[in-house]
Amino acid sequence: MNTQPNIVYLNGLYLPVEEATIPVMDRGFLFGDGVYEVIPVFGNKLLRLDEHLQRLQNSLNRISLPNPHDNEEWAEIFSALINKNDGDDRALYLQISRGVYAKRDLTIKAGHAPTVFAMVLQVTPADIEIVSAGISVITVDDFRWNACDIKSTSLVASVMLKQQAVAAGVDDAILIKNSMLSEGTASNVFLVKNDALITPPTGHKLLPGITRDLVIEIAKNSTILVEEREVKEAELYNADEIWMTSSTREIAPVISLNGEAVGSGTAGKMWKRVMDLYQQYKQVLRTSD
Ligand code: PDD
Repeated sequence: MNTQPNIVYLNGLYLPVEEATIPVMDRGFLFGDGVYEVIPVFGNKLLRLDEHLQRLQNSLNRISLPNPHDNEEWAEIFSALINKNDGDDRALYLQISRGVYAKRDLTIKAGHAPTVFAMVLQVTPADIEIVSAGISVITVDDFRWNACDIKSTSLVASVMLKQQAVAAGVDDAILIKNSMLSEGTASNVFLVKNDALITPPTGHKLLPGITRDLVIEIAKNSTILVEEREVKEAELYNADEIWMTSSTREIAPVISLNGEAVGSGTAGKMWKRVMDLYQQYKQVLRTSD
């Protein structure tokens, strides 16, 4: 994804990105002590804003950081920021850190203002031809912590895992913990087997993806069987299809896993069906009032 922020939001101000700076004692910088959200924007409409704000609240609760704004204030900030930047298909990035303390100290203290930062990410609109070419992935050991439901800005483990994929010359990695599927480096994972969609349940082992929930909803509305259950690594090798889902990636078909073809080795029939439904959903959102 190509990020070209222009006007960004920082602690109540809308500024050119070059003028937006934070103190070095910010706990987001020192500790990765913060949370974030990435919300897709289609034609100025935010996709599933309420759900993203609920997940933000859950992340904040988990790290004991009070929410600095209510949903109405967030919506106003986002809308102003979107209007100050050009673009159509975009994503909004929001980060809240625990703010600036005088001393480097792990202890949380009350009475400090958080640092609130938001920017618009330019995303390449999903070109169905390109997306349907599929992606190649490897499996890697998921050595992350047992709090992956928090959308934490402490992402060094994810950086390391993604780097394993880059070093292997593939697009991404699927994370395996104790021989069980957890998720992707920055996405959730679905399998298709015998026309059913299968994905691991939410919990501490993965981020509850908003795209994941939307895909499940769309599928169920079309009477496609969905199983939310633990998935053995071995099942990946027998899957008819594998997908990776995220706000920025939408639904990416995996065509190669550890050098072996997944299913037919091309984007599958079920992917095409659910991807069409997802694009229709976007189109309705884009043209809604
Ligand atoms: N990442 N799992 C992880 C670890 C993620 O980082 C993400 C999203 C997802 C999918 O969540 P959603 O469908 O709500 O985007 C799952 C975002 C896009 C990012 O870090 O850029």
